[in-house]
Amino acid sequence: MKSVKDSLLQRRSIRRYERETVSDADMNLIYEAIRNTPTSYNGQQFSVIDISDQEVKEKLYALTNQKQIKTCNHFLLFLADYHKIDVLADKKGIDMPQFTHTVDGIIVGVVDATLAMMSAVAMAESLGLGTCCVGYARTVAPEAVSQIVNLPQHTFVVCGLAIGVPRELPDMKPKQPASLVIHHNEYRQDDMAPDLEAYDAEITRYNTTRAGDKTTNDWCGHIISYYREAMKYRMLSALRRRGFDMEH
Ligand SMILES: Cc1cc2nc3c(=O)[nH]c(=O)nc-3n(C[C@H](O)[C@H](O)[C@H](O)COP(=O)(O)O)c2cc1C
Repeated sequence: MKSVKDSLLQRRSIRRYERETVSDADMNLIYEAIRNTPTSYNGQQFSVIDISDQEVKEKLYALTNQKQIKTCNHFLLFLADYHKIDVLADKKGIDMPQFTHTVDGIIVGVVDATLAMMSAVAMAESLGLGTCCVGYARTVAPEAVSQIVNLPQHTFVVCGLAIGVPRELPDMKPKQPASLVIHHNEYRQDDMAPDLEAYDAEITRYNTTRAGDKTTNDWCGHIISYYREAMKYRMLSALRRRGFDMEH
């Protein structure tokens, strides 16, 4: 088993997998790590759907065009989930407040599900497995994805996670330096542009020299083009259809 240090510091997204299956013992360790995720109020406002059925994976691939979904061994969908507390509150006759109609209700569910996904990533890495988060599982076709996996109301997909035996070891992507990421005692007050420009140039260098597909993409322009694309997603109406009728 890899150390926590190596699992976190050598992690990179893996998008190609061997046909080999992940053992039940390894999947159970991943489940245990997911279960022990810290959550808001210990409310555990999340659930995971582990998709190992190839037919279901192919359906999700058809919607998202993300190859890693059909080639991975397990595709995990991380959900924000208030359905479970609904069920028990109803059974116990407790009036359920409309927390799902608040932005903080959304944030709580998203934070819990995201931390659970990171628990799974860390455990999978320590077991020598490869992972890739797949946000398209949330954005591309929220209604169709919800139907494929039979989501009840008051749940929604936050992110997908492909897990498999790695078939590649891509170069690690350069990340922003600590001077841009870690602020001490207050948000940095000096001009950040020089550090940002240096990072932008580092990403361009990486993209032109990395193993595999090369591009001349910078960081800033490339990420902003993703934001432009993401402006087309209609998450508010998708969330409303799932029973999250946000008022404040
Ligand atoms: C929330 C989230 C959603 C992501 N969605 C996708 C995706 O849909 N497809 C994909 O190929 N990679 C996806 N990624 C992987 C990122 O592209 C990757 O983490 C990033 O480029 C940094 O590379 P690294 O993970 O190798 O360090 C996603 C990552 C996160 C955290």
